[in-house]
Amino acid sequence: MLFLNHCNDAIPFRLLLLAILGCACSHAYIELTEEYLNDIKADEKAEVKAGEYNYDHQGDDWQGTCKDGNRQSPIDLIYDDAVVSSIPRIRFKNYDRSLQTPLVLVNNGHTANLVLPATIGGQRASISGGLLPGMFEAQSVHLHWGSALSKGSEHAINFERYDIEMHIVHKNRKYGSISEASENWDGLAVLGVMFRSTRRPLSTQYGLNKIFNQLPRITQYQSNATIQGVLTVGQLLGNIVTGEFYSYNGSLTTPDCAESVTWTVFKDTINYSDRQIQKLWSLKDSRQQPLINNYRSLQDVYNRTVYYRSVN
Ligand SMILES: *[C@@H]1O[C@H](CO)[C@@H](O)[C@H](O)[C@H]1NC(C)=O
Ligand SMILES: *[C@@H]1O[C@H](CO)[C@@H](O)[C@H](O)[C@H]1NC(C)=O
Ligand SMILES: *[C@@H]1O[C@H](CO)[C@@H](O)[C@H](O)[C@H]1NC(C)=O
Ligand SMILES: *[C@@H]1O[C@H](CO)[C@@H](O)[C@H](O)[C@H]1NC(C)=O
Ligand SMILES: [Zn+2]
Repeated sequence: MLFLNHCNDAIPFRLLLLAILGCACSHAYIELTEEYLNDIKADEKAEVKAGEYNYDHQGDDWQGTCKDGNRQSPIDLIYDDAVVSSIPRIRFKNYDRSLQTPLVLVNNGHTANLVLPATIGGQRASISGGLLPGMFEAQSVHLHWGSALSKGSEHAINFERYDIEMHIVHKNRKYGSISEASENWDGLAVLGVMFRSTRRPLSTQYGLNKIFNQLPRITQYQSNATIQGVLTVGQLLGNIVTGEFYSYNGSLTTPDCAESVTWTVFKDTINYSDRQIQKLWSLKDSRQQPLINNYRSLQDVYNRTVYYRSVN
């Protein structure tokens, strides 16, 4: 009798639904392993340590190493200025294995960030080869984007910028934490992948869709959403050709701009649905302003060598 009453009454029924959803959500959090939760906390701590910063001037007002460094990123990657050489290909390990789920996607005020847990078997997705000084384990993935009026990649390739740039951040296995790794020139390896916005993409990006489908849930600063089901780090690369890439020594593109990154930026692009890409423009930063154009301006190459791996 009481139950029927509730069903006929719109408001309590909504409350009941909320309660059920609330249970489902907290249940999901209980499933997170301690290791994954610690990695998420470490990532949040690093964000706090970086201090307040924004993209109002595309990073030109950032201080410290961001201002004084001489191995900063991003840069324009120019084929004619690159040393084209026979570099080994990037070797991907466990990139085809399912990650432990649920995954937690967070709006940290600067990007949509996904801390990557180990795979179901307990191993980490990792990379070696290329010009990488060691074996590097995948830690997180995030994006840089523009707006309805502008492209948002950080690197440029032959003076061309792209709609989105995805960064898969890896830590050298020999270091214990990201913060320790970022104090060493060989601490981090980031894979950069360019996206081209397309009205009708030829292939469906099942992995990326899992992430982009959750974006409407994380429009608010510090909100998060969980991703369930099967996701491999390899799926995030779509079907790009990984044999051709630029590589150079650079930095993080956000404060403190630590010069600890071996960059690998693929020449091939992911052609991705414009409807999915537009979802990024609804995210808000810590000031409740649209989180758009979250890319840093191009930096001086100075005396650095940029290498290019060609498949021919
Ligand atoms: C996700 O957001 C909820 C609600 O604000 C919060 O209680 C929870 O701690 C967050 N989870 C993570 C892993 O950040
Ligand atoms: C994406 O589109 C570009 C230009 O249309 C094309 O050259 C490239 O091969 C495509 N990439 C993939 C992975 O399909
Ligand atoms: C990066 O710097 C190290 C140390 O100076 C050097 O050995 C290495 O060859 C450089 N790598 C690239 C890709 O330029
Ligand atoms: C590039 O210049 C910096 C600063 O002047 C110097 O420390 C570094 O050794 C130089 N690197 C190369 C590869 O010449
Ligand atoms: Zn980045």
